[in-house]
Amino acid sequence: MIDRRGSKGRLGLTDKDNSPVKTQLQWGGRFGTGPAEVMQAINASISFDAKLWRQDIAGSQAHAAMLAKQGIITPADQAAIREGLEAIAAEIEAGTFHFSESLEDIHTNIEVRLTERIGEAARRLHTARSRNDQVATDFRLWVRNAIDGVLVQIHGLMKTLSERAVEHAATVMPGFTHLQTAQPVTFGHHLLAYVEMLARDAGRLKDARARLNECPLGSAALAGTSFPIDRFATAEALGFARPTANSLDSVSDRDFALEFLSALSICAMHLSRFSEEIIIWCSSPYKLIELSDAFTTGSSIMPQKRNPDAAELAKAKTGRIFGALIGLLTVMKGLPMAYAKDMQEDKEPVFDAVAAISLCLTAMDGMVRDMKANKDRMEALAGSGFSTATDLADWLVRVLKMPFRDAHHTTGQLVRLAEGKNCDLSELILSDMQSIEPRITAEIFEVLTVQASVASRTSYGGTAPINVAKQAAVWLESLA
Ligand code: ARG
Repeated sequence: MIDRRGSKGRLGLTDKDNSPVKTQLQWGGRFGTGPAEVMQAINASISFDAKLWRQDIAGSQAHAAMLAKQGIITPADQAAIREGLEAIAAEIEAGTFHFSESLEDIHTNIEVRLTERIGEAARRLHTARSRNDQVATDFRLWVRNAIDGVLVQIHGLMKTLSERAVEHAATVMPGFTHLQTAQPVTFGHHLLAYVEMLARDAGRLKDARARLNECPLGSAALAGTSFPIDRFATAEALGFARPTANSLDSVSDRDFALEFLSALSICAMHLSRFSEEIIIWCSSPYKLIELSDAFTTGSSIMPQKRNPDAAELAKAKTGRIFGALIGLLTVMKGLPMAYAKDMQEDKEPVFDAVAAISLCLTAMDGMVRDMKANKDRMEALAGSGFSTATDLADWLVRVLKMPFRDAHHTTGQLVRLAEGKNCDLSELILSDMQSIEPRITAEIFEVLTVQASVASRTSYGGTAPINVAKQAAVWLESLA
């Protein structure tokens, strides 16, 4: 709950205890009056950065422990700070903590509450620290945690896809290029293509995580500090690999958020492609798959309808995620070092993008788990549109030793012949085929079925059921 009330009914100009704002402001010393109402409204971030409370408390605990170890504060002060912060964490957890807009952000809200609880010692916590390195640390910790969460979800979806790929290793479906029937492929192979994409997404997130994992704490406002702090100790306490090396860069860098959003954007793009395929596959003219009741909706007017809303929204949410990336890139563009309040605009897009990708990954996992392949329909469509023409051409090359270009031409003539007779290649009679190429034998019909077509695609990475079964097993093992 965030308090925006004030005495005289003015928005947030006083705090919950109705004392003038000035006494609450951490920087109030040189100010005569409090901020204008709109100043507070534009300046405050507590409505969204309250989300960082765990990270803020963890950062403060590490900082206080280090200050005590270095003899900068007393062990007694540190103990009071530790217990005070633990109590505040319990309050927030229990929902009894009072967040106040007049206290601007999560850092000040917690520090003021700590002062209320433990007095003097709390006022020593901010030694050798600034909100600039504090927020950079909190946000890195939050993003690191979010990366771990998204990675778990991506791995979950990869596993679901691999399981369905095992099941459909030999299920034949039409493969498309230009969204025109091209060659038969296996459904399992198609699903594993998304496993590859998601694996790259996971790789990008892991790369970003490794680069992110340096601790800005102790960079203070921008220049470092004159106190004998131990930044390696705080970095280690917070699970960072090392402290950041340049205090100016530390407080002004948001690359970690941008890299995260870039990786999420690419992942969202992948999910949008899959979503669109699902939408096409389950559309009435295709009917390659059926989605479950759990992941579709009905129409309020057309009783027969089953709409793929989850897929549509998973596709559409890509807009938010790209928007978050472009938004933050724009905030950072042309920003002089070091910290500027512009950077407070970094959080909401990241929070929103994480919520969106998380929903999309969960919905996608459910859709994939539940979707039913219409095998007969898949096979029928896989064989339509002369999809085994390449197999025919390959036979001419292999058996008659024709150069591929000539085989391509001859096959084209055979396709034209079949088109004229309104039949499929496999339905042509041998003598008709021989009128175009006399050396063709009945043996050619063996390669014209969709099953034979996919079974022959055994080249590394090809669509043959034997390949798909093997590759799905490799994925399942690595994801176990
Ligand atoms: N709420 C601020 C942010 O998110 C914290 C840092 C404030 N620093 C400052 N110098 N005013 O960026």
